[in-house]
Amino acid sequence: MATHVSRRNFMGGVAATVGYLSTRPSAELWAQGGPAAVAAQRARGPMTPEMYDRMAKIASNENNWGPPESVMKAMNAAWKYVGRYGYPDGNIVEAIAEHHGVKPENVLLGAGSGEILDVVGTTYLLGGKKVLGCDPSYGSVYQHATAIKAEAIKVALKPDYTQNISQMIEMANRHAAEIGLFYLCNPNNPTGVAVPKQEVEAVVRNIPKDMPILIDEAYHHFVDDPNYEESIKYVLEGRPVVVARTFSKIAGLAAMRLGYAIAPAPIVAKMRPFSMGSINVLVKHGGVASLKDTQAQAEVKAKVKALRTKCSDDLRAHGYNVIPSQTNFFMVHLGGRQVQPVIEEFRTREILVGRPFPPMTDHLRVSIGTADEMDRFMKAFKEIFPKRERQTNAAGA
Ligand SMILES: Cc1ncc(COP(=O)(O)O)c(C=O)c1O
Repeated sequence: MATHVSRRNFMGGVAATVGYLSTRPSAELWAQGGPAAVAAQRARGPMTPEMYDRMAKIASNENNWGPPESVMKAMNAAWKYVGRYGYPDGNIVEAIAEHHGVKPENVLLGAGSGEILDVVGTTYLLGGKKVLGCDPSYGSVYQHATAIKAEAIKVALKPDYTQNISQMIEMANRHAAEIGLFYLCNPNNPTGVAVPKQEVEAVVRNIPKDMPILIDEAYHHFVDDPNYEESIKYVLEGRPVVVARTFSKIAGLAAMRLGYAIAPAPIVAKMRPFSMGSINVLVKHGGVASLKDTQAQAEVKAKVKALRTKCSDDLRAHGYNVIPSQTNFFMVHLGGRQVQPVIEEFRTREILVGRPFPPMTDHLRVSIGTADEMDRFMKAFKEIFPKRERQTNAAGA
């Protein structure tokens, strides 16, 4: 089911079955682009670790500076426990609860917030309920729905790339009996656009009161927009809201796999049986240190913002529109070219850029890497794309 509202004719639909890999460490993940890219990757042969190390890695919205000293020190101190089942875990659950002003029973840990998204999906979609969200968005929720034989109702983004909140609310009410979960990715991936606080509130107040809402705040830490706010206050109000957070982005711990949900205690209790509960000891200690090191997070945010602004300005000066982003990635419009061959062109220049995000296949998602990586990206972009007159688009981007 889909709504067709944008001039770019976004084709929403039942959750795509294309299995784009997200966090799985495989050679095919490095191909970053669905079947065509997997075929190209197979033809090239596997990527060796040496090849990987040479790549500019601006494909997966990671923190390319990695975790700060404080976090590595805490993780190093926890090596002595790696042979244990029961061990001091640094009180990670309590630390997260305190950080958000909630109780430990409001916290569920996951091996990355990806596990949390799956757990929420399983909890509320099993038995054929549908997930409602925007399109395009972070596809993992829709893919998991497909995997457990549930479906998605996807509402196209507006021409200015914002989420069509009023239409999503209308759909939630119209299809209330079928819907098991409302998914709100804020800020949205792949666009980097945040949902204003008034619109989040409109969702919470205007959809059926008992409809669970999953608010994915993976990129929360990068947002500057004064009109944005975090959603944990709705958990404290007792609304059926699950907020998903991750240590993979600003905290630089993607490969260590730590994320969590904040939700009302009865919802955490309902979700817990579906979670693996297998978080490693190193990241538990690293996570506690990371929450404390707000200075390090502020530094990452500042670096990301400066590099994002510079790169976006350079692309605009070269004649290509960039969607204004609140995150550690942005999307650039490719001036009429399709993204998959462009991904391959960057790949031959040892630059990994974002995978395609249908239906926005005329845009490329670029993560913010180090200054050197962004220079390599810009140099390659200028080789691949001629300078041209910039055309303003619907978003004025
Ligand atoms: C919006 C969003 N949510 C969740 C995730 C999952 O991240 P992780 O499982 O590493 O916490 C990602 C990863 O890119 C994401 O972009």
